[in-house]
Amino acid sequence: MRKFIIMGIQGSGKGTQAKLLADDLDLEHFSVGDIFRWNVQHHTKLGAQVKRIMATGNLVDDDLVESVVRSALAAHDWNFGFVIDGFPRNARQAEFFLESYDIDGVINLYLPDEEVMRRVLARRLCSRCGMDYNLIAHRPQLDETCDICHGELISRADDNPEALAIRLADYHEETKPLIAIFERKEFVATIDATLSVEEVQSNIRERFALPPRS
Ligand code: AP5
Ligand code: MG
Repeated sequence: MRKFIIMGIQGSGKGTQAKLLADDLDLEHFSVGDIFRWNVQHHTKLGAQVKRIMATGNLVDDDLVESVVRSALAAHDWNFGFVIDGFPRNARQAEFFLESYDIDGVINLYLPDEEVMRRVLARRLCSRCGMDYNLIAHRPQLDETCDICHGELISRADDNPEALAIRLADYHEETKPLIAIFERKEFVATIDATLSVEEVQSNIRERFALPPRS
């Protein structure tokens, strides 16, 4: 069974790489951010609690995050592996996780700050099917239109310079120091995330002795 955490600064490709791993390795991709965004989009009570916090780029309250992670992992069939994306983000979350669960390794994507701003502000998502585009790396054929379903492309509510500055400060102050904690306990592979999506994916697979993409 393969159980991983994927960590890295905003825009380093956690979601992109986790989806590719999950695609053909039978792993479940648990993205805490995606779970919250689903709740916002579907007007749930949880969505109402987190909408403003997320849009301003702040971290959601630890109790709420832990209950989301606990219920996602409790619902999971443990005969399959998983990749957790966006958790833990601070010392308290790491403590909660390490007390309750075992993992095989931590994928740590490294991207310099100056590249983060460029990448994140260029991200666009299809408002209908959720497909990810990037005005630098993966442009749609028609401006502002999804190639697949022709839905309108929009920016994420927190992909603006003000919210991004808060997200980056939180990453440097609270999340990045966790790498040292994981290095003492788990196998951490730091991967250069400035490379292409395909190169990053094949480097992750090489470091964890996973089969190449089928
Ligand atoms: P979350 O959704 O996790 O957002 P994030 O950490 O800010 O990270 P991103 O999703 O922006 O980046 P990513 O690393 O996934 O990169 P991606 O693959 O998309 O969290 C959002 C919010 O939810 C938080 O701010 C907080 O409010 C709340 N939250 C979530 N977890 C929480 C927790 N544990 N505690 C408290 N609050 C929590 O790629 C980015 C772009 O770059 C895309 O357009 C992509 O196409 C492009 N790209 C990817 N790889 C490459 C490449 N190699 N080359 C060129 N372009 C690339
Ligand atoms: Mg993401």
